[in-house]
Amino acid sequence: MEMDALSLKKLVAKAALEYVEAGTVLGVGTGSTVDCFLDALAESGLQLKGAVSSSVRSEKKLRDMGVPIVEMNDVTELSVYVDGADEIDPEFALIKGGGGALTREKIAADISKKFVCIADESKLVPVLGAFPLPVEVIPMAREAIARKLNALGGRAVLRAGFTTDNGNEILDVHGLQIQDPAALEQAINQWPGVVTNGLFALRRADVVLLGTQNGVKTL
Ligand code: A5P
Repeated sequence: MEMDALSLKKLVAKAALEYVEAGTVLGVGTGSTVDCFLDALAESGLQLKGAVSSSVRSEKKLRDMGVPIVEMNDVTELSVYVDGADEIDPEFALIKGGGGALTREKIAADISKKFVCIADESKLVPVLGAFPLPVEVIPMAREAIARKLNALGGRAVLRAGFTTDNGNEILDVHGLQIQDPAALEQAINQWPGVVTNGLFALRRADVVLLGTQNGVKTL
């Protein structure tokens, strides 16, 4: 029988436990796949020293599990960071930020030695961009940034009624075909008013665990 998306997420979530060491501080991302990972972690009985969380949402779940929350400012590096993705290309460049936590996720990925990305197989794509690219902007720069994104050939749409954990807004950019994710990530980062864009190409995933109908594939 074919597994649904949730079953595939649970499958990779469990496989990611292999990368987690008891007694360490773990980096934890955000999203429904990470929620499955946290459920698997709770079930495993593995005791962490603590966790650096990339969002208020994951932080709440970690607290409920009894895992001590560690401030990012209090660690120099994370040996492992586990997070999901919205799209993954064959070279492990990602689009993230569907849940709006891209900025903290990017910082956590940047200070991690190993970024373990967990996802169901629907996330693997030949070219990034079918999933709208999230760009976190300072509210007063929203229109200026939207015009620049539109000039790139995209269609920037304000994520209505949404404020990030950092008090900013998100523009979701539709209609891009991202052939050079690192170049685009860098270009958008230069614009005043941009906090972060959802391309993870300069700092990619190190390991991708993909939940497939034939089990977990480690890429
Ligand atoms: C959160 O901001 C995102 O980057 C998530 O990691 C991404 O959206 C994956 O989420 P799901 O696991 O819910 O698909």
